[in-house]
Amino acid sequence: MSKAAWNKLESLPKLSLKELFAADSGRLDTFATRFEAGDPEAACGMLFDWSKTHLDAAHVAAFEELAETMNFAGRRAALFAGEIVNPTEGRAAEHTAQRGVGKEESVELAAEYHHRMAAIVEAIHRGAMGEVKHLIHIGIGGSALGPALAIDALARDGAMVDVHVVSNIDGCALEAAFAKCDPATTMLAVASKTFTTIETMTNAESAITWLRENGVEDPYGRIVALTAAPDNAIEWGVDETRILPFSESVGGRYSLWSSIGFPVAMALGWPDFAEFLNGAAAMDVHFRDTDGLANLPLRAAFGDQYYTRLRGCQTRGVFAYDERLALLPDYLQQLEMESNGKSVTADGAPIDGPTAPITWGGVGTDAQHAVFQLLHQGTNIVPVDFIAAIAPGDDLNPAHHRILLSNCFAQGAALMAGKESDDPARAYPGDRPSATILLDEVSPATFGALIAFHEHRTFANAVLMGINPFDQFGVELGKEIAKQIEKGDTAFDPSTEALLALAGIK
Ligand code: F6P
Repeated sequence: MSKAAWNKLESLPKLSLKELFAADSGRLDTFATRFEAGDPEAACGMLFDWSKTHLDAAHVAAFEELAETMNFAGRRAALFAGEIVNPTEGRAAEHTAQRGVGKEESVELAAEYHHRMAAIVEAIHRGAMGEVKHLIHIGIGGSALGPALAIDALARDGAMVDVHVVSNIDGCALEAAFAKCDPATTMLAVASKTFTTIETMTNAESAITWLRENGVEDPYGRIVALTAAPDNAIEWGVDETRILPFSESVGGRYSLWSSIGFPVAMALGWPDFAEFLNGAAAMDVHFRDTDGLANLPLRAAFGDQYYTRLRGCQTRGVFAYDERLALLPDYLQQLEMESNGKSVTADGAPIDGPTAPITWGGVGTDAQHAVFQLLHQGTNIVPVDFIAAIAPGDDLNPAHHRILLSNCFAQGAALMAGKESDDPARAYPGDRPSATILLDEVSPATFGALIAFHEHRTFANAVLMGINPFDQFGVELGKEIAKQIEKGDTAFDPSTEALLALAGIK
């Protein structure tokens, strides 16, 4: 069925961006939409400008037909109803319930968990665990990328506790955190949905050893566990009173809103964390209740599908023109590539087209002086998202922020306009797409809405492709082989054997 919708999409004329703007004087009104992430009086809004993409009325209508064919409304309703939307693992995906939007029982349970988390955060701030100046947060993937991003984005003006997020099994990562912490005033957060992940458990053991070797008598008393597997945490040695659980139905890469957000709440204080949840909830309600092009995550997914499927773009670029959002591309890489980097549909049939592009990016203006050459003149067309904020994050001469934003907008304009030249090396083809998300300010609410927007965009893309975005079996084989190597009893290919021998592992 979706074949017919795709055939139609493929048959539509592909106008250039200049032609699209020339043909429709209302283009900006149609494709650039303001969204309020909170109280409109409080600079909590953000603009989503998709006008410099090649979406037009004909494509939008055809994508809306595709969405209908793929039962977008039904799958979205199932997501919010807490139905099983992850069939390969027989699970719901209830990250929105963490924000208060979803199945009633799940919303209540999440509120209960949050209530307890708030109490523990506030108790620690008041001194319940003695003096806590530093927090080493140990987790990996979804248990680390969100906290690292949120703290970097929101706690630059001074954190209530100095947080270090450590993910890599490479001991250099943990040592770098140790070097910045005083063991006498350091607590640990061990974050793992499963509480079995080798990197996290090994790092946690080493952090306990470090505390013990540096005079802390009861290092286990300094741990808070953030997990959907409390039994595993208890067995590992964490006291039940310091386990902050979350539901199995919250996926790892969707878990920042759950107790995995504990270090964020420790750094910002509970009221800001609650604002962050509220900003995401505003986006949830928008995504749940809005149809067609007006639905911002769905609109973005139309653009994503257009470029991946109709223009053969293999990557998409994300450039944050804001130092505070420098970790956003890393976060989105996991969200989008782990969710939609699949080759089969939710029913297990092979997909008849490309799935998730490679998400990559960086921070502006740095990236302009490093990789933008390819964006402007390379043979790969890279649809780009620019993300910036009107209010500066710094207190320096306003020239800094003015130049930052001017450069951001200049890049979008240049990509679209291009420039002719008699000298081919100096010619810019133009007609290169970009979208811009412009926040009023980087606040907990706008940041929450921004992340929730990307979660829903990822889901909408998955629905349009017929994919289950909530499993990630592709990560398992490498883990299994690493375990076999640890055991030392399996023979591998000659190249791997030689590498193991050279490194003295086998
Ligand atoms: O290996 C991938 C993965 O399972 C991610 O999906 C997850 O976010 C990460 O590992 C960490 O898992 P856990 O939170 O269970 O330690």
